[in-house]
Amino acid sequence: MAKKHIIIAPGDGIGQEVTAVGKQVVEKVAATFGHEFTYDEVLIGHVAIEAFGTPLTDESLEKMRESDAVLFGAVGDPRYDNDPTAAMRPEQGLFKMRKELGLYANIRPIKLFDELLDASSIKADVLKGADILFFRELTGDVYFGEKGRRNNGDTAFDMAEYSRYEVERIARKAFEAARTRRKKLCSVDKANVMETGRLWREVVQKMALDYPDVEVEHQYADATAMLLIKAPRRFDVVVTANLFGDILTDEASQIAGSMGMLASASIGDGTGVYEPIHGSAPDIMGKGIANPIASVLSAALMFDISFGMKAESDAIIQAVDKLLKDGFRTRDIADTATPDAKILSTEAIGVQLLKNI
Ligand code: IPM
Ligand code: MG
Repeated sequence: MAKKHIIIAPGDGIGQEVTAVGKQVVEKVAATFGHEFTYDEVLIGHVAIEAFGTPLTDESLEKMRESDAVLFGAVGDPRYDNDPTAAMRPEQGLFKMRKELGLYANIRPIKLFDELLDASSIKADVLKGADILFFRELTGDVYFGEKGRRNNGDTAFDMAEYSRYEVERIARKAFEAARTRRKKLCSVDKANVMETGRLWREVVQKMALDYPDVEVEHQYADATAMLLIKAPRRFDVVVTANLFGDILTDEASQIAGSMGMLASASIGDGTGVYEPIHGSAPDIMGKGIANPIASVLSAALMFDISFGMKAESDAIIQAVDKLLKDGFRTRDIADTATPDAKILSTEAIGVQLLKNI
């Protein structure tokens, strides 16, 4: 029996709907395994701007810092997307959380459930057996570098900056993970163009000497984008900078059938944050059709990584596996190859998952 305090931060759009299911699953697992979990909820993103005039209050941040883990949904709202001049944006809450909690490693496992082989737009024989673990650096790059306008606003700039220690700490996590898997590490950069890319490559090359058992390759980000679709099975662990990681993992989500399937863990030295890789998807918000599996699988990562509870984590993954085997789908993962799939709402998927635990 363990005691844990979890912060639920649903955020905006479908973040609310999917995190509700994620939380139910956590509660069920905790009860089944005899743990005593307590919960608190905080606002982040547009909903926090509406309530407090800021996308993440210091008070909410402190609650996160003091908790054992955060289950986060998504932030973003079209009101800001269509207004590039907005002074305050929901995403600033996300960046504040990542920076202040020191969440420098964003881990995104790309794994295809067998039942979804035909849900992807990529051919099944190219996909079968693909299993990639992405390490996306999360607190540097153009996300946090100096940005601004000059030339009376007619010129804009975003600075990409990396220090040696920042590359080292994310690369170390990736090397260590590779050791527990197929012992292959692909480091992705644009060393042919960027100075940060050359520093990145220099650091990873040097560290490779400490990991003679890990086979290291360096790829340019553009080539990686191509190879992910052409030959996804060639990748084991991939490590890359913040912006490349953002883009490449959205692309790689198609290997797992849908964005709605991909979970992630953001970790650093303190509290970990667990979140789907998908965004707030305002176009489908409130319709009850969002896929909650990414949030549920994020909860599985929370049990495994933050709590060291492997059996609890596996129980969640097996529940998802059974759900898919039983033919239940949300719309995004229903495909022509499974015409008899039972398409369920977000909530109804939650009900099935609870039965499976
Ligand atoms: C992600 C998202 C965010 C990012 C957005 C919402 C700012 O796309 O977590 O991948 O770019 O990091
Ligand atoms: Mg993204």
